[in-house]
Amino acid sequence: KLTEDNFFNQSFPWYFAHRGAKNIYQENTLLAYENCIKRGNRFIELDVQQTNDGALVVMHDDTMDRTTNGNWAIRGVSSNYISTKSIIDKVNGEHTQFGYAPQMIPFLVDVFTQFGRKTNYIIESKDRKSARKIVELAKQMRVQDYIMIQSFSLPDLEEIKDEGIKLMHLKNNATMTTFREMRQANIEYFGCNKSSTDDYIRTAVEEGFPPFVYTVNTRYERDRLLGLGVAGFFSDDPFYLAGSSGNR
Ligand code: G3P
Ligand code: CA
Repeated sequence: KLTEDNFFNQSFPWYFAHRGAKNIYQENTLLAYENCIKRGNRFIELDVQQTNDGALVVMHDDTMDRTTNGNWAIRGVSSNYISTKSIIDKVNGEHTQFGYAPQMIPFLVDVFTQFGRKTNYIIESKDRKSARKIVELAKQMRVQDYIMIQSFSLPDLEEIKDEGIKLMHLKNNATMTTFREMRQANIEYFGCNKSSTDDYIRTAVEEGFPPFVYTVNTRYERDRLLGLGVAGFFSDDPFYLAGSSGNR
């Protein structure tokens, strides 16, 4: 049953459907998100880029080459160009590897329009200019309490630190941000790579930032990380990973 609750009040662990559960559905498509929500997932993960005329597009890569019948960098093309292209399977041709017809490339507004308050949106801002636009669109669509914005860039998150939006800073091996800096930027949530050391994850937990770990697809890894105190996972198949337990 779909409700209009804000699912951020669920207890940990949370299981994020990474790019819409990309091991079982074509990544970053409306069809993927629809299936995730129908199956009870309440944390869909999306990546957002911006076109040269300021439209927010849901796509992981900087360029269209890997997943669509278009090419060029998203930042170099117009929203009209995006609308004329489709998400296809580059290996199998007309049909995607999951057996679906070619899909439209979604704009973030399409995702908010279709799913409204039926899910939480874990949105990664992939470029320097998009975070504030994502907030503005979410407020316009009245889903601001249902989004969390994630970024590897602390300055990008700092720009929206007073907007009352849930923020997650992502760490990779090159990220030098301290937990103190994260607190100063109103960061509430933290994401890190599964290659992080056990000591680092324990420190994050002690500092009040139990991490969400990307990208976790085996129950062995899940159980090991839960033992360290993590808050949840980005998973390419959250249904398998969570099994009958956990909030997803
Ligand atoms: O957003 C966290 C995680 O998704 C980072 O990996 O898939 O965006 O490269 P990705
Ligand atoms: Ca992401």
